[in-house]
Amino acid sequence: MNLVRRLEYQVVRPALRWARPAKRVVLGGITIDYKAELDGGGIEFGQDFIPFLKSRNMPVQKRIFEWCCGPAFIGFSLLGHRLCETLCLADINPKAVASCLNTVRANNLGDRVSVYLSNNLKSIPTHEKWDLIVSNPPHFIDRYDGDIRAHDPDWSIHRDFFRTVTPYLQEEGVILLQENNRGSTVASFREMIDESGLEIVFTHHDKQELTAKSEFYFIGIMKKGAHVPDWAR
Ligand SMILES: C[S@@+](CC[C@H](N)C(=O)[O-])C[C@H]1O[C@@H](n2cnc3c(N)ncnc32)[C@H](O)[C@@H]1O
Repeated sequence: MNLVRRLEYQVVRPALRWARPAKRVVLGGITIDYKAELDGGGIEFGQDFIPFLKSRNMPVQKRIFEWCCGPAFIGFSLLGHRLCETLCLADINPKAVASCLNTVRANNLGDRVSVYLSNNLKSIPTHEKWDLIVSNPPHFIDRYDGDIRAHDPDWSIHRDFFRTVTPYLQEEGVILLQENNRGSTVASFREMIDESGLEIVFTHHDKQELTAKSEFYFIGIMKKGAHVPDWAR
């Protein structure tokens, strides 16, 4: 990326966005004040997790983790809709983590929500064990260079996540990722999932080819050979 575009994406645009007043949304009864610059779509297509999991009759999960949480629109909504008892959140961006901590304080959720500042899972203690991991991670390998919400260079963020997630995943734990068919197909991730001792147990609404416009799909992933719960079959 040339210097002018880098300045635009990494300095000018973030500064302009940060100067805008905070927005407010209420999800499942939880009030979230957030800056637009942290929104990665979780408020919009990210809310598809709720009807998707309800339609599959997923039982209430003990602990859900939202990887790449941003302001945690997805995680807080799952908690507010009583799809989990407790919630764990992590993001690499200190502003996203501050936003989550603010939501925890404002909604008195301190006894049910933990928040970590972490590059992938590197700063998360291994006593954390999750029944379900959800995420709307960066979706593009070849676009949005410099935008940490969207760009995953060489799929290194995904690859590192799959490589390190096993100790945190309960035996019958499920990873449910929301991906964008404009940036990937299921095949983009299959090999790195397999190499990490994991396997794809279902996909939903994915296309075999990249699409011209954003279209979102789900991938369900578990440890190889694990017993698949009914809702994830
Ligand atoms: C598409 S946005 C999703 C944000 C939010 N979950 C939503 O749905 O609106 C991707 C998020 O991934 C975070 N992220 C990027 N690289 C990361 C990494 N290496 N470790 C943890 N989080 C990362 C970004 O800071 C951003 O919040």
